[in-house]
Amino acid sequence: MATSASKYSDQPSPKQDTYALGRDFRSASRLGHQHYLWHETLGFHLHPLIANTLPPVEPPRSDEKSPPPRIADIACGSASWLRSVALSLPHTQLNGHDISLAQCPPHQWLPVNITLGDWDLFSSPTEDMLERFDVVHTRLIFTIVEGQTEDEGLATARRVVSGLLKLLKPGGWLQWDELDVARSFLLRADPAAEAPAPTMERFLSVLKQKGKWVERLVEVMEETGMQEARLWRYEERKDLAKQFFENNLMKDEEMANGALRGTEEGRRLGDTVEKMWDESREGVVVCTPKVVVTATKPKGAMR
Ligand SMILES: C[S@@+](CC[C@H](N)C(=O)[O-])C[C@H]1O[C@@H](n2cnc3c(N)ncnc32)[C@H](O)[C@@H]1O
Repeated sequence: MATSASKYSDQPSPKQDTYALGRDFRSASRLGHQHYLWHETLGFHLHPLIANTLPPVEPPRSDEKSPPPRIADIACGSASWLRSVALSLPHTQLNGHDISLAQCPPHQWLPVNITLGDWDLFSSPTEDMLERFDVVHTRLIFTIVEGQTEDEGLATARRVVSGLLKLLKPGGWLQWDELDVARSFLLRADPAAEAPAPTMERFLSVLKQKGKWVERLVEVMEETGMQEARLWRYEERKDLAKQFFENNLMKDEEMANGALRGTEEGRRLGDTVEKMWDESREGVVVCTPKVVVTATKPKGAMR
């Protein structure tokens, strides 16, 4: 594990990187905005159930017998979540890991209790990461987990949870924040007026076939040996729906111009983005509810 933000470049990690989205200033800024929208929706960074398991903030626990609680954010992106947690929990040790740290600020600009390192969540953790953390958090790894079928998504979700479980101390907590894509819906400002939105309707029908594994994350956690697994639902707030929708359009445009650039699929997606933007001016948007899944590693559990 790297001990500081050893990388700060526009280049992806030399490890195999199949991430479908970009990492330039547009992508980083989109993630930043999205982070604040998530916080307004959930009302917390760390789920209260988990936050309550941590010792009180004062006094700092830094002696050998009671080291500060350690929290890891896996697939940390631009480290936004960690930076917010650092403000509310200054006496914790925060570690961020991602396959690429290209979107993170230089470590000199981060709070001193944040340390970053590159790590592919599908690879084995190094010895110094094993059973090291009181809390492991991950968010928005949908594109990494989603496969061609529900079973493929479930299998990848199991791999992810098994890997994250290894990082947790026995008795530690996992928090996974994700999009409930399969429960997406159209929100209309005036339902009676039924503003026509044929492109959004088509887009939605495809979206609703995706991410069925999200609904089954409690099952995945239990199969992997975790306890007290719970899925908490967060509906779209109407006052944030337009901003979330625009943020998602930016993500789809990023995919069309990035991973799908020069392909027929990319051209179609770019066209869909433009049409959905036009349709949204009549007061209709695509909304995707959010979920937070929490679970604990049994106290007597082995690695
Ligand atoms: C949609 S972003 C979410 C970032 C952050 N969690 C957030 O909520 O702002 C997904 C992140 O997953 C990272 N990622 C992709 N594949 C990964 C892998 N195999 N291991 C670790 N991180 C990965 C990407 O580099 C990207 O930063």
